[in-house]
Amino acid sequence: MDHFSVIQSIIRSGLAGDQAGLGKQVQRLLARLEKAGQEKEAATVRRLLSSSIETKELKPSKVEVSRSMIHGETLTPDTIPPIDRETGAQLCTVEFPGAMRTAPIYERDVKDTIDGLLDEWRHPEALRCVDVDPTRSLLIFGPPGSGKTMTAYHIAQNLELPLVMARIDGLISSFLGTTARNIANLFEFANRYACVLLLDEFDALAKQRDDPQEIGEIKRVVNTLLQNLDLRRDHGVTIAITNHDRLLDPAVWRRFETHVHIGEPNLEASTSLVKRFLLPIIPDNGTVGIIAYCLEGRSGADLQRVCTSIKRTLALSGAKHDGPGVFQALSTVLARLPSHDHVPAKLLASDPEAFVSLMTNNSHIAISQQDIAAATGMSKSKISDLKKSKRHLPLVEASHAK
Ligand SMILES: Nc1ncnc2c1ncn2[C@@H]1O[C@H](COP(=O)(O)OP(=O)(O)O)[C@@H](O)[C@H]1O
Ligand SMILES: [Mg+2]
Repeated sequence: MDHFSVIQSIIRSGLAGDQAGLGKQVQRLLARLEKAGQEKEAATVRRLLSSSIETKELKPSKVEVSRSMIHGETLTPDTIPPIDRETGAQLCTVEFPGAMRTAPIYERDVKDTIDGLLDEWRHPEALRCVDVDPTRSLLIFGPPGSGKTMTAYHIAQNLELPLVMARIDGLISSFLGTTARNIANLFEFANRYACVLLLDEFDALAKQRDDPQEIGEIKRVVNTLLQNLDLRRDHGVTIAITNHDRLLDPAVWRRFETHVHIGEPNLEASTSLVKRFLLPIIPDNGTVGIIAYCLEGRSGADLQRVCTSIKRTLALSGAKHDGPGVFQALSTVLARLPSHDHVPAKLLASDPEAFVSLMTNNSHIAISQQDIAAATGMSKSKISDLKKSKRHLPLVEASHAK
């Protein structure tokens, strides 16, 4: 029987309940099948692996919300959302629990904050002993594409509450006084039902009142908003999101119990994001490391875009879905993107060998030469020669000089 030794190791890890070992052995089996040209069997293993990763990520970790803590009637799909009386535009849309959405991937601190928040709802009685309630209001800020809106969905889904999403286009009206009235109507609706209220692009409503560009109307809008945020304190959960925290009126910050900054992912989070976005391709460590290194400082949404382009390029190129195939596709994708400030991406787009020289000379990168060889398809001696050549130096200098 082919590959019996690996199958034996898989059984051993499985019986011992060693998840990490099991994953490693399955990857080994996959590599063997690919090497032996058993594409059909390899595809089956790949599918099994990717569906297990997806299931793990989607595994519901729902919070049993104590109903006594969230007041209000039950929202149903038949409930009619409030509208702007002049234009008839809806002031909000509602997403009901049960929509299958993947959980965001965060770096440690953000994950701790969000998990901590959900934990509060899991153990309200422990909080009651010290006379406090779970956090009801959260302000999320950070650059675009970092997973802020996704986080709001994630929280509502975990609390098993409908998400009432304010529609900024519906709320803001050119008629004097109507925006403030729309805001009041929206809050009245959210307070009546058990729900999470989401105020996305919050800066559009909560702009500084002393903004010289704006006059009386913005003052009225912000004042209404502040009053309604105060009144909402004893009702459901409120989440506000902004990409432009500096534009927010200072008085707004105090209305939220917790402020979370979600920025661009660090290396660890980028690695997990790349693995998710490349599915069903299961990349080796070197490949993931190379992509994360090239896209350092980019948002989760950027990583997703590049990984999707890699998959498209790879599928059409006819190349194997392995490290070297992905490496080639990554270089092609980066070359097509508008110019990069980030040197590794720039180098890989124009000269993959110079990129390897740069990467192997970076002492902060914990990817072995062996992994780089497997990911790029270059021999180990070639990698070692490239490291010595330092051929990236003139290119790096030239790019700094620009
Ligand atoms: N931290 C993350 N974890 C998982 N996916 C992410 C993350 N950040 C961005 N994405 C991807 O990018 C998309 C856009 O994210 P989104 O939540 O709309 O960003 P933001 O609201 O911060 O602008 C998401 O739907 C998701 O596919
Ligand atoms: Mg958003």
